[in-house]
Amino acid sequence: MSKPKILIQLDSDAQASVFDAVVAVDAPVDQLLRHANVQISQVRDLVYGAMFTRGVDDLRHTAVFIGGSEVAAGEAILAQVRRTFFGPMRVSVMLDSNGANTTAAAAVVSAARHGSLQGATAVVLGATGPVGSRVVRLLALEGARVKVASRSRPRAEAVCQAVAARVPGAQLTPIETTSSGHTAAALEGAQVVIGAGAPGIELVSAAVRANSKSLKVAIDLSAVPPVGLAGIEVVDKAVERDGMICYGAIGVGGMKMKIHKAAIRQLFEGADQVLDAEEIYRIGQHLGG
Ligand SMILES: NC(=O)c1ccc[n+]([C@@H]2O[C@H](COP(=O)([O-])OP(=O)(O)OC[C@H]3O[C@@H](n4cnc5c(N)ncnc54)[C@H](OP(=O)(O)O)[C@@H]3O)[C@@H](O)[C@H]2O)c1
Repeated sequence: MSKPKILIQLDSDAQASVFDAVVAVDAPVDQLLRHANVQISQVRDLVYGAMFTRGVDDLRHTAVFIGGSEVAAGEAILAQVRRTFFGPMRVSVMLDSNGANTTAAAAVVSAARHGSLQGATAVVLGATGPVGSRVVRLLALEGARVKVASRSRPRAEAVCQAVAARVPGAQLTPIETTSSGHTAAALEGAQVVIGAGAPGIELVSAAVRANSKSLKVAIDLSAVPPVGLAGIEVVDKAVERDGMICYGAIGVGGMKMKIHKAAIRQLFEGADQVLDAEEIYRIGQHLGG
């Protein structure tokens, strides 16, 4: 008889994410073990508990999910989890701190449904946040020319450098957007815009977006009013407005949830999966709806 599927939630926050727990139960997993306030010094022993309890052939029925609001903390936990593994003594692991990987994957999967991203020009606004920087990574992976926008050029440059180090051949341009005029200029000639700014911040006015005649797809990830790309409704899902296909945060959210659950299911297909932004995006590419 197959062993129950156990997911071990390692969360860097004081309270482990309820959102991540509910998604895990719905994925579904059989048992969810939740650990909050996880410190790097504790990770090895937590992972030993996963590695040394089941025979090698059964390790695929145990997996680790890393979450929490701090993406840097999650990345450090992931690195420590991987350092703990040796030989066949390992379990699959997924990183989705701040929902950044699943959200970025859902945004880029949605954009790719309306035309090839290869060679397309895409603008990412709020590109320096955990979600935006992953959107940049995934667009670059798909061969898009990406304009990486921030209120600060050095911060945009830092994202470009980090992404270029991960994605060979990435075509990235750092852009400073401190005025509506800068944003309008950044959108000129672009086919795709993805708004990944902080919640409640309008990044583009309705007029600037509507007048960006080259745009084919506009995706806004901010669910808190005012939305990031004005004129888009949060529930928009492939709705045509001003001659472009629009998605709002809730419109993208359905795909995000599907990707999150599918990624958790994939963890149990072997003991060797490491699901970060790129792997989670590939899962999303194969989902319908
Ligand atoms: N739908 C979902 O399931 C889901 C899941 C996760 C996140 N989200 C949403 O995705 C968006 C991005 O998330 P995140 O965590 O990456 O965001 P974040 O880190 O809070 O902010 C992203 C970027 O927004 C820019 N920004 C901050 N304050 C600003 C201001 N006053 N004016 C203009 N720009 C400002 C900053 O870039 P610069 O300082 O470099 O300009 C920042 O790096 C958020 O709206 C979040 O709510 C949605």
